[in-house]
Amino acid sequence: MLNEIKNLTLTLAPRLIEIRRHLHAHPELSGQEYQTAAYVAGVLSSCGIHVKESVGKTGVVGELIGGGKDERLLAIRTDMDALPIVERTGLEFASRKDGVMHACGHDVHTTVGLGTAMVLASLGQKLPGNVRFLFQPAEEIAQGAEWMVKDGVMENVNSILSVHVFPTIEAGCVGIRHGALTAAADDIEIIIIGESGHGARPHEAVDAIWIASQVITMLQQAISRTQNPLRPVVLTIGQIMGGRAPNVIADNVRMLGTVRSLHPETSEQLPGWIEKIVANVCSAYGARYQLNYKRGVPSVQNDAFLTQLVESAAVEAWGNEGVTILPEPSLGAEDFSVYLKEAPGMMFRLGVGFKDKRNYPLHHPKFEVDEQAIVTGVVTMAYAVYKYWN
Ligand code: NI
Repeated sequence: MLNEIKNLTLTLAPRLIEIRRHLHAHPELSGQEYQTAAYVAGVLSSCGIHVKESVGKTGVVGELIGGGKDERLLAIRTDMDALPIVERTGLEFASRKDGVMHACGHDVHTTVGLGTAMVLASLGQKLPGNVRFLFQPAEEIAQGAEWMVKDGVMENVNSILSVHVFPTIEAGCVGIRHGALTAAADDIEIIIIGESGHGARPHEAVDAIWIASQVITMLQQAISRTQNPLRPVVLTIGQIMGGRAPNVIADNVRMLGTVRSLHPETSEQLPGWIEKIVANVCSAYGARYQLNYKRGVPSVQNDAFLTQLVESAAVEAWGNEGVTILPEPSLGAEDFSVYLKEAPGMMFRLGVGFKDKRNYPLHHPKFEVDEQAIVTGVVTMAYAVYKYWN
């Protein structure tokens, strides 16, 4: 079966590159993937897959019914949105939309999803079970997965697989991560409320700027002294606003930040932990505070069985030299984790790096992929799907 899948994919390769270049030239921002969705729906329909559009706002769902009797439903999720970046690759198929670019490889993900659908559809009766293809919008704003799940795409799903490109792995290789893959990412807003006064008479005022600086310092120190160093926490205050004049003590400071963590237990206790520190610093100096802790996406935790499945499919397909076991997770965020509240899942990394050319990072205006990776992605995904029921 592996050879059949490889041959089918190689035959499709020119078409897949054409699809990827079309998607790359016509990127759409999060939540506005109208043309992309219509295009995806067209390709899916043309290979006999039952298609539902406008799922999760601008998402697309395809249902492929296999010939086997295995009841377990496997979902494959790929994302379709692009970023507000001015492309500077100079490629002939570079973005034709000003200020919008597929700089995170979601054009490749969508192509891998479509290629997998084409290959599995042509297996016909030989496919042992049923597959649901999820083409998700709005991953970059971490909302698309939520929209899709609300529209019921995870109903009856037993397991879910996904893929993300990785420029630091060479094209032709697959990256496998056991356990945590990405971080939980939450937003915080801290408002310090003091009392205004003359800049020369601090004892008559409550200086919100000074107290805010104590809060930031204390939070950073407390990470090093009260958090388990083997369970990382990153807290970044990225925006701070307050004060009215150089000689007036500020009565109000607003700080906005992001909080990242990997371990679910750590993530659980973070809001209370932050509040305790903010409350204690404020009370020591007579200020009041407001804390808004907004949960973002949880950490992606790769399921042990599915990770084993994808790893063994990739090793069979590409040998040990084609598979990299990733020693470290990323503190980036990925809303694939939202599906994992409904069913176990696994996301693998698809190497897209060039051997002989500088590789720019994701979200860079010169980010490019070695298109060989598309065949690697489709074969790995399709073969892992096939093996799922065996
Ligand atoms: Ni991405």
